[in-house]
Amino acid sequence: MTQLLERLKEIAGPGGWSTDPIELEPHLTEWRGVYSGRTLVLLKPRSTAAVAAIVRACAEHGVGIVPQGGNTSMCGGAVPDDSGQQVVLSLSRMNRVRKVDARNFSMEVDAGCVLAHAQDAARQAGRYLPLSLGAEGTCQVGGTIATNAGGMNVGRYGTARALVLGLEVVLADGTVLDSLRSLRKDTAGYDLKQLFIGSEGTLGIITAASLRLYPDPGELSTALIGIENAGDAVELLGVLKAALDDRVESFELVSQRVFGLVTRYIPGARLPFDDEYPWYVLLEAATGGRRELLENVLADAAERDLLLTAVIAKNEKEAAELWRLRHSIAEAERHDGRSLKHDISVPLSAMQAFLARGDELLASCHPEAKLVAFGHVGDGNLHYNVVLPRDLGAEAWVEEGDRVTRRIYDLVRELGGSFSAEHGVGQAKRAWLAEYRAGPELDLMRQLKKTLDPANILNPGKVI
Ligand code: FAD
Ligand code: MLT
Ligand code: ZN
Repeated sequence: MTQLLERLKEIAGPGGWSTDPIELEPHLTEWRGVYSGRTLVLLKPRSTAAVAAIVRACAEHGVGIVPQGGNTSMCGGAVPDDSGQQVVLSLSRMNRVRKVDARNFSMEVDAGCVLAHAQDAARQAGRYLPLSLGAEGTCQVGGTIATNAGGMNVGRYGTARALVLGLEVVLADGTVLDSLRSLRKDTAGYDLKQLFIGSEGTLGIITAASLRLYPDPGELSTALIGIENAGDAVELLGVLKAALDDRVESFELVSQRVFGLVTRYIPGARLPFDDEYPWYVLLEAATGGRRELLENVLADAAERDLLLTAVIAKNEKEAAELWRLRHSIAEAERHDGRSLKHDISVPLSAMQAFLARGDELLASCHPEAKLVAFGHVGDGNLHYNVVLPRDLGAEAWVEEGDRVTRRIYDLVRELGGSFSAEHGVGQAKRAWLAEYRAGPELDLMRQLKKTLDPANILNPGKVI
């Protein structure tokens, strides 16, 4: 092991590695503090060639590698186990925007480029990288692709997968797979890049990506709407889509309880209403400065009793304040303490049934449980989180938690949904994957893993 360590340090070069506990600390614990581990060494290579050399060296010694981006995973995907034998490979020093090709509506970036920096570079070239999430100031392009993250505007632009035109990936034997093409059409054999999108570092290490860009959507109108029932949000979305077609950029549902956490824990956060409403929708539409387009649809929706109140931001500052409320939810929830996170999706047509039956289910299986629900309802994705009574002991919490989670996931399965919409599997949901995808799907996943990583050195202990 000492020999390997020396070789790895040499490959990473001065400033490219650390065993200093203080520097290691943020790389060993996940964002929510639920999972943590130890490591042999933290490596921060500067080039694809160095990543390939690190993988070759680890492969020779059978040492596991945990690829790490911004470490914002919600499932403990980017932290090592507690053996102290795994290597953490941070992509943070591979952070260049390689080029923006405005005429091709594409950009090529290193995997370690922070998502917000990639968005800025696209904007400077008069183009738009739509992928947007609360963690965008920290998460990296590589980590975001590796989880196939979703975020705020999937309804219009798709998840990370839809935005990837090409990838450069280091395989488990150190081979560099160059699929970094910027093409919209390419039927030359299997589309290999798809294997790595959403594979959470278990099939290859993404070192660079070519991303699809869009024209600037122009001026956006942003509104916060109070509604009576969560189910009304689905009707409201239908009305909006009928009137505005694909100009609906975002459509987020948030419960009063969730905004209550935001105003309690986030300094300066306040809602623009005097009264409280049971549920809220935050929506954004590309109206090109014609605010009346949105006003008219909302007036129509009010006539149909689909909303109780609405405020439309008058300027960018007001819009940013509304978005701050939404982007602060994860942080507020973290302050509030432990919750059972259920990142579920169902077909939009089953969302109302899910919400109604979810209420019944919680009332019947744990009347004191509190629902903390919010999410990207426009994509059929809800964060249907549950807080069990705080006085429950640790063991009871786990037992009760599993019981509640299973009932929710069973309902999701019955409605044709997924127990993991956008956060991935990591280590948190491995057992659920084994259960809910058992059969030919899981078998094929295992075969793929065996083929691409026979010695199981890429993010061992995650996903499968
Ligand atoms: P990490 O957390 O570092 O890694 C995630 C996984 O990918 C790990 O398994 C890791 O091993 C692997 N990985 C990392 N880099 C690479 C690479 N280069 N090659 C191969 N594998 C790699 N997710 C959503 O989908 N939508 C949201 O709206 C959303 N909002 C969030 C808000 C907050 C405040 C936080 C903390 C998280 C949020 N997330 C959201 C969850 C998170 O999955 C995303 O932030 C995601 O973009 C992770 O990127 P990252 O660079 O931090 O990856
Ligand atoms: C969000 O939608 O804010 C994220 O997915 C983070 C979370 O679920 O906490
Ligand atoms: Zn989310």
